[in-house]
Amino acid sequence: MEQELNSLRDTALNELSAIDNKEALNDLKIKYLGKKGLLTGMLRGLGALTPEERPRIGQVVNEIRNEIEDIIASKLGAMKQAELSRKLASETIDVTLPGRLAELGHLHPLTLTLNRIKDTFMRLGFEIAEGPEVEKDYYNFEALNLPQDHPARDMQDSFYITKEFLLRTHTSPVQVRTLQSAEPNQPIRIIAPGKVYRRDYDATHSPMFQQVEGLVVDKNISFADLKGTLELFLKETFGNRVNVRFRPSFFPFTEPSAEVDISCVMCDGKGCRVCSGTGWLEILGSGMVHPRVLEMSSFDPEQVSGFAFGMGVERIAMLTYGIDDLRLFFDNDMRFLRQF
Ligand code: FA5
Ligand code: MG
Repeated sequence: MEQELNSLRDTALNELSAIDNKEALNDLKIKYLGKKGLLTGMLRGLGALTPEERPRIGQVVNEIRNEIEDIIASKLGAMKQAELSRKLASETIDVTLPGRLAELGHLHPLTLTLNRIKDTFMRLGFEIAEGPEVEKDYYNFEALNLPQDHPARDMQDSFYITKEFLLRTHTSPVQVRTLQSAEPNQPIRIIAPGKVYRRDYDATHSPMFQQVEGLVVDKNISFADLKGTLELFLKETFGNRVNVRFRPSFFPFTEPSAEVDISCVMCDGKGCRVCSGTGWLEILGSGMVHPRVLEMSSFDPEQVSGFAFGMGVERIAMLTYGIDDLRLFFDNDMRFLRQF
């Protein structure tokens, strides 16, 4: 029996020394120490021994059992330690790696342009007014001295929603809304920025674009005030590198009217695709508020007068940044937008 036990111990230790994973370790534990294990079987055989032999052999069995258990425990400990080291090694933080910076965005060039326009006029004491983009025909045309079937309605191709409502074609309806919500003949000095819509599409025209309307009404407002204000604005915006010209024009809601052009910065006024070969780029329409417009909104043209203007924000942005196609502003191409 003792012989048998010794050889069982040797095989067990031999097998143990070859084991390198937890599963095999567990299998071996069951094989020798489990309920039906080999060593346990030996204990059962004790009954066949003489009472003198029993305690001695029993002790040997227990010693072997303890030995195997100790080895298993120490192997398990070593395996756990190795696993932990492996994990620690694979999860080390390399503090010398460069950090991941959060990408910072910035305002769209059209927003930057609009903000600069607002800044200039706010320093001149203008307040900001707003109006709806879905507008009544009445405010967009009628009250601006453009009755139904007036031929000048064709100057702006419109998107109608119903017979009564359309997407506003310009910010001029805000002039009417401002006049009508003010006390008659009280001074007004506002700009009205916002989106407008027309059936247009080419390098300098988009179906949606932004305008900034201006309206000044007070006693003794003259064309000199209009010219002085717009010239100051244009000098602030473009500096001395561009020329400005006032060109006689027609708007039903102003009299007299002038379109304001700036020398083309793409070609320095020589003539190119952007300015259609003229050397000039139209950026705003303006004029003295028509007496009919004042009257229709309960202002008395005998007591007060005013000037108004409406500029295209995209055109100003194009000239500021030297961009030859306004559609680039709306393409959302990051290679373009990152440059501002
Ligand atoms: C008007 O819209 C008048 N309401 C301006 C005005 C206001 C005149 C107050 C007198 C008094 P006009 O249609 O010319 O005018 O447009 C004004 C400006 O908007 C143009 O000078 C141009 O810079 C810009 N613009 C016009 N159409 C487009 C378009 N499709 N895309 C981009 N910009 C445009
Ligand atoms: Mg025009």
